[in-house]
Amino acid sequence: MQNHLNDEFVFRYKLVGSVEYIKSGKDQLFLSKMVKICCIGAGYVGGPTMAVIALKCPNIQVAVVDISTARINAWNSDTLPIYEPGLDEVVKKCRGKNLSFSTDVEKHVAESDIVFVSVNTPTKTQGLGAGKAADLTYWESAARMIADVAKSNKIVVEKSTVPVKTAEAIEKILTHNSKGINFSILSNPEFLAEGTAISDLLNPDRVLIGGRETPEGKKAIETLRDVYAHWVPVDRILCTNLWSAELSKLAANAFLAQRISSVNAMSALCEATGADVSQVAHAVGKDTRIGPKFLNASVGFGGSCFQKDILNLVYICECNGIPEVATYWKQVIKVNDYQKTRFVNRIVSSMFNTVSGKKIAVLGFAFKKDTGDTRETPAIDVCKGLIGDKAKLSIYDPQVNQDQIQRDLSMKKFDWDHPVHLQPMSPTSVKDVSVVWDAYTATKDAHGICILTEWDEFKNLDYQKIFNDMQKPAFVFDGRNVVDAEKLRKIGFIVYSIGKPLDDWLKDMPAVA
Ligand code: NAD
Ligand code: UGA
Repeated sequence: MQNHLNDEFVFRYKLVGSVEYIKSGKDQLFLSKMVKICCIGAGYVGGPTMAVIALKCPNIQVAVVDISTARINAWNSDTLPIYEPGLDEVVKKCRGKNLSFSTDVEKHVAESDIVFVSVNTPTKTQGLGAGKAADLTYWESAARMIADVAKSNKIVVEKSTVPVKTAEAIEKILTHNSKGINFSILSNPEFLAEGTAISDLLNPDRVLIGGRETPEGKKAIETLRDVYAHWVPVDRILCTNLWSAELSKLAANAFLAQRISSVNAMSALCEATGADVSQVAHAVGKDTRIGPKFLNASVGFGGSCFQKDILNLVYICECNGIPEVATYWKQVIKVNDYQKTRFVNRIVSSMFNTVSGKKIAVLGFAFKKDTGDTRETPAIDVCKGLIGDKAKLSIYDPQVNQDQIQRDLSMKKFDWDHPVHLQPMSPTSVKDVSVVWDAYTATKDAHGICILTEWDEFKNLDYQKIFNDMQKPAFVFDGRNVVDAEKLRKIGFIVYSIGKPLDDWLKDMPAVA
């Protein structure tokens, strides 16, 4: 194709299957043929990631497909299936132009040059590696389907988080069923965090692309790199071999979770000694080698990935004959479980060693603020612990509804990480749990309040009014250190804040985990 634009501003990119386009300095794109991307899995990763690709690459057609009709219908409606700041605007800008959502998985896969796979990779609950290993059922069925329907060469991109060496297995499935079609496998793990997904995608610290070190592999890497280069500076696009990319994702999540378990371990020691975990974290984080981020002590980390990915890492270490390394990482999960148990025990022991029949208001159920996601939220274990001691819970979260909370409290461990329609149907609702739509209703007549998500609105509630309407003594157990404890103590509350010097009341009633 001839380049008619000023050379200074023009770069030539080669895209899949000899598709060529020219990119001007003003990001104007001229295509000889439309490139098509398809993403299998319209979840928290697939939806936002593809929406941003569509926004930044107007020349590329992006189809997001899923086996869940309900999910796809929601993506096509005014109420998107996930709550994520900024997502609505991006989807509304692109949907109906170069972004579509569909259940016609096979059609879109067949038509695409690049196929991302962003399906669930839950922890196995049965058989070999149960409780640790990743269950690749959904990945395998997606790979088999790609091989079945493909009529042209394709780049297949691992977007899901997978065990290291998964690409080898996928390659085998694809090549054994290929009918002469060439498939190039890339690993392109996603590092977005929920609640900040759109800004993380628009301005990523890095994009990681791993591929085979063969001419075809290198060409595939370049092709995907050129997609991201529409908006990500090239020096932030890291290209590695396949195994490094796969392992880097597990390693990054393990390092992040380890920081939280480290600060949470310190929080227990702070409570025992009178030190203040915020002051300790601040002092430690001032060391530029350590840095200040991700050092907020909490009731424990949650979310769909930290625990799952570390368990997966532990299993891989065990399978590779390095149990010492497996034990090291397992401890990150153990400390997280300890922190949740410690929190429940603190509540029960502070309230005269029983919460039986007492109303406890739970403020926040999502695993972090600015998301409605409850997967592996610490709130599940805390609520189950309190229910185990016969408390009556009144739960309020600005983004999580009653149905979701009831499902979460009655579902078995790890069952949540399957496509919605394959999860256990209509679980029995948990007695002694009511879900309400504001913090004042939740706390009325309560004996105690647990803050389990750091929603901003919990900082500015009218705590005097809340105190007036509660049973006395009135307790606040702040699992996120969001309230002004001194102010609340002046009102009359007994306050427990994670890792902070204890009220005399709490000192007299030590909690043993
Ligand atoms: P999700 O459950 O929100 O979405 C997965 C989707 O895949 C579901 O809608 C499901 O119906 C669909 N699906 C499953 N099998 C399918 C098939 N064969 N064909 C078509 N659709 C199918 O999960 P998620 O949070 O988007 O995570 C996806 C992957 O990305 C996981 O491996 C996860 O570890 C990883 N990841 C997640 C995050 C995150 O913040 N949630 C961040 C980085 C990486
Ligand atoms: C995390 C990683 O941050 C992402 O890079 C990664 O892509 C993603 O997992 C994934 O693979 O799924 P996410 O789980 O969405 O993202 O959210 P985080 O901000 O990491 O928070 C995880 C949990 O740790 C939350 O429960 C949060 O409240 C808790 N946390 C976080 C703390 O308790 N203290 C902190 O200082 C930070």
